[in-house]
Amino acid sequence: MSPKNFQETKQSILVRPMVDTDVEAVVPLHRICFPDYFVTELGPKFLSILYSESLHEIALVAVDGDGRLLGYHLSFIRPSRTFVRLMARRGPQFLMASLPTAAQGLNKALKVAGALTRPTWRMPKGSAICMYTAVSPDARGRGVARKLLVAMRAAAIDRGIESLFGENEDDSKLCALYESVGFRRHDIITAPDGTRKVRMLMDLRDVVVPSAERALSIDAPSI
Ligand SMILES: CC(C)(COP(=O)(O)OP(=O)(O)OC[C@H]1O[C@@H](n2cnc3c(N)ncnc32)[C@H](O)[C@@H]1OP(=O)(O)O)[C@@H](O)C(=O)NCCC(=O)NCCS
Repeated sequence: MSPKNFQETKQSILVRPMVDTDVEAVVPLHRICFPDYFVTELGPKFLSILYSESLHEIALVAVDGDGRLLGYHLSFIRPSRTFVRLMARRGPQFLMASLPTAAQGLNKALKVAGALTRPTWRMPKGSAICMYTAVSPDARGRGVARKLLVAMRAAAIDRGIESLFGENEDDSKLCALYESVGFRRHDIITAPDGTRKVRMLMDLRDVVVPSAERALSIDAPSI
């Protein structure tokens, strides 16, 4: 691709709120980007319900000029409220979708219970937790993830969030990406599966968002 074409492609990346019709493309991308995550094991139906019910959180997509999904980001602002609403509206569907995995034994059943209750974790008031940033393999290295994170940061500020939490693999490039938008390394923990995770934090009270970036901040769809 010539540099000129590359530039044109780069310019046509648009970040906007995720809407219901995006979920169909978001779920396969989730499965490509997070193949080893436990929630992925719970299957596409489970993921589809999870994303559809999370649209009022900070849920963003990056699309190209043709509207093709390049990547997405999801941060939770009110995980317990989302979880309660999800259970109230789609509890039976949600449980049915996780049943095949739960039926694989006690260990899996406990993990399903953990995954289902994970969103009820208490977070300090005014904070949000970054869950997923995913970019299609053929769109990587063009700044899509950075653009999504910048838009997420602006949306978080607009919605009164003061601190953002994230947990990453202990990968210097990945952490550098998060640091480039204002996160700092908080500490390193060992996850239950034995992997090292870097906990990252951003204090949004210290961040001044340039007006050009605020243009990317978008209201959540009404619920
Ligand atoms: C990590 C990920 C989102 C990066 O997407 P991307 O659109 O290629 O990222 P960008 O183009 O905005 O890259 C910005 C920087 O991040 C770096 N980077 C971050 N993570 C990286 C990774 N896993 N592999 C390679 N480079 C990575 C790039 O080198 C680039 O640095 P540079 O600007 O100094 O060259 C993408 O690789 C992905 O979807 N991975 C699988 C899912 C995942 O691990 N998500 C993150 C945790 S939730």
